[in-house]
Amino acid sequence: MSTDKKPRQGKVILVTGSSGLVGKAIQKVAEEDPRPDERFVFISSKDADLTSAAETAALFEKHHPTHVIHLAAMVGGLFRNLKYNLDFWRNNSLMNDNVLHNAHLHDVEKVVSCLSTCIFPDKTTYPIDETMIHNGPPHDSNFGYAYAKRMIDVQNKGYFVQHKRRYTSVIPTNVFGPHDNFNLEDGHVIPGLMNKVYNAKKDGTPFTIWGTGAPLRQFIYSIDLARLFLWVLREYDEVDPIILSVGEEDEVSIKEVAENIIKAFNFTGEVIYDTSKSDGQFKKTASNAKLRKYLPDFKFTPLETAVKETVDWFTENYETARK
Ligand SMILES: NC(=O)c1ccc[n+]([C@@H]2O[C@H](COP(=O)([O-])OP(=O)(O)OC[C@H]3O[C@@H](n4cnc5c(N)ncnc54)[C@H](OP(=O)(O)O)[C@@H]3O)[C@@H](O)[C@H]2O)c1
Repeated sequence: MSTDKKPRQGKVILVTGSSGLVGKAIQKVAEEDPRPDERFVFISSKDADLTSAAETAALFEKHHPTHVIHLAAMVGGLFRNLKYNLDFWRNNSLMNDNVLHNAHLHDVEKVVSCLSTCIFPDKTTYPIDETMIHNGPPHDSNFGYAYAKRMIDVQNKGYFVQHKRRYTSVIPTNVFGPHDNFNLEDGHVIPGLMNKVYNAKKDGTPFTIWGTGAPLRQFIYSIDLARLFLWVLREYDEVDPIILSVGEEDEVSIKEVAENIIKAFNFTGEVIYDTSKSDGQFKKTASNAKLRKYLPDFKFTPLETAVKETVDWFTENYETARK
C-alpha cells in the first residue's frame, strides 16, 4: 500500500474485506475495465483490524479515500452464528461504525455497504423487498449478525438526515464464485456441494445431498454482483438499500444446482438425496424489481456458466482454497 498525502485527484476507492469472495470479484471486474479517474485500494484484515477505532482511523489517514466499498464483516454459517451471536453483533457493529464514522470525518463522498437477505424478518410475506428490512425480528439463529447489518441502514439514514451524506447499502442474495469458502460445515450451499462432489469423484464414493433438493433459492454469481456493486458506486443515488439479485423467475432448486455441479465436474458416480435431513425453508424469494427499474437490460451470467467457472477455479486452486 502506498501513502497518499497529495491533494485528491480523481476517485480513490477503498474496498474493505477485499480478500473475500465478493472483494476478489470486485478486484477482477475493476481490473478488466479500468477507468482513468478511479484508483482502487484493496484491503483485508492484514492491513487494518476494522474493529479497532485506532487502526481504522490510521487506514483512512493513510489513503484519504473519496469512496468506500465496505465488505468487511464477520460472516459464517448456522452453527458459527448460533455459538457466537454476541461476537457477530459486536465485531460487525464496531467495524461498521468505525468505517462509516471515519468516512464522514474524511469527507468521503459515497460509501456502499453490504447487507444480506438473511437479515430480513423471520415472519414475512414474499417476495421480500427493500422496504421490509425492519418489519420484525430476524431469525433467532443469527440475531447478532442481522441486527448489526440492519443498523448500517439506520446509520446511513442518520448521516443523510444530519449531514446530507449519501451513504447507501446493497442487499445481495446467496453469492457464489471463485475464492468462496468451500468448507463443508461453515460454507454456503453451492461451495459445499462442489467440495462434496470433488471428494466423491476423488474417492469413488457417492455424492450425498442433504434433503430432497426441492427448496428454491436465488443465487448470484460473484462476478455479476461485482459489476452491480460498481454500478451502485458510480450511478445509484439513493440512501435506501437496493436488492442485488436475479429475478423471482430465476429461482432454482437445490437439485438443479447439484445437477449443474455434477455436469461441471463430469461426475458419473452415485447421487443420493438424504431425505432424513431437513430441507430448511422451502423458499425465501426476494424481489429485484427495484434493480430492474434502474437496469432493465442487465444480463446475469447463466447458472451453468457461473457454476462451471467456479468449479474450474476450485479444481485449479484446490490446495489453497478455503475448505
Ligand atoms: N457470501 C454471501 O453469500 C453473502 C451474501 C450476502 C451478503 N454478503 C456480505 O458480503 C460481504 C463480503 O462477504 P464475503 O462472502 O466476501 O465474505 P468473506 O469471503 O468471508 O470475506 C470477509 C472479508 O472481511 C474481512 N474481515 C473480517 N474481519 C475483519 C476485521 N476485523 N477487520 C478487517 N477486515 C475483516 C476479511 O479479511 P481477512 O481475509 O483478512 O480475514 C475478508 O476480506 C459481507 O459484508 C457479507 O456480509 C455475503
